[in-house]
Amino acid sequence: MINWSNVDKVAKEWLKEAGKNIIASFKTALQIDTKADANDLVTNIDKEIEQYFINRIRETFPSHNILGEEGFGDEVESMDGVVWIIDPVDGTMNFVHQQRNFFISIGIFENGEGKLGYLYDVVHNELYYAKSGEGAFWDELRLPTLEKVEVSEAVIGLSASLLISSDPNNPFASIVKDVRGTRSYGSAALEFAYVATGRLDAYISKTLSPWDFAGGIIIVEEIGGVVTDFNGQPLNLLKKSPVIVAKPGLHETLIKQYFQVN
Ligand code: IPD
Ligand code: CA
Ligand code: CA
Ligand code: CA
Repeated sequence: MINWSNVDKVAKEWLKEAGKNIIASFKTALQIDTKADANDLVTNIDKEIEQYFINRIRETFPSHNILGEEGFGDEVESMDGVVWIIDPVDGTMNFVHQQRNFFISIGIFENGEGKLGYLYDVVHNELYYAKSGEGAFWDELRLPTLEKVEVSEAVIGLSASLLISSDPNNPFASIVKDVRGTRSYGSAALEFAYVATGRLDAYISKTLSPWDFAGGIIIVEEIGGVVTDFNGQPLNLLKKSPVIVAKPGLHETLIKQYFQVN
């Protein structure tokens, strides 16, 4: 039997310590490299923070598996047992260019079921988290259940790159026309936290990796938010996917009105 309160306690301690290490790194020179292309940045801090979590988890919970963006974890091929999905710095471009608007994201699953989710805003020292069945929180504040909202009154997060399309029926252009407003923050974790707190009504991304949504999905679903791909299907925790996260009702409308072809 897993003592989830203990896992929660140590995960929070590690997040705070990792956050302090990131803040301390602002005074040192960053080593910046690129991954898939010239705009896909990674730094020594992304790698060091992932290794920090992996070392702690392996010491404390040797039977748990770890999927991390920077690849220092395990080759996770199934969600059997306990799996930690970690994004050590979500919003690396913001981290490098702005030294803000980046989060640490962690989702902890047991046999594919979300148990504990964390989105940590390091610079503001604000933690968004959920314990499955016990609610979602922004620090000490319990987050209320998400309420329905109309498309015409919705403020949604999406990237401007979604608008670059020669397709006259580009669904994203129609969405941008119909909603009250759009925002682009450049950190999926931040955008999930904003949906959870009602600062955004929805967030849409054409491709996210499991570490981008693992922490957020647990928190948003705990308070009635809906997270799926563009066909309304549940996300596969081990695969890249298009993602729509939204308040209930709004999610259904967005899928039906803008993504369903027939
Ligand atoms: C990225 C951010 C960004 C999203 C990208 C992600 P990273 O994560 O979440 O908002 O649009 O798809 O890769 O690489 O900064 O951890
Ligand atoms: Ca990255
Ligand atoms: Ca990420
Ligand atoms: Ca990252």
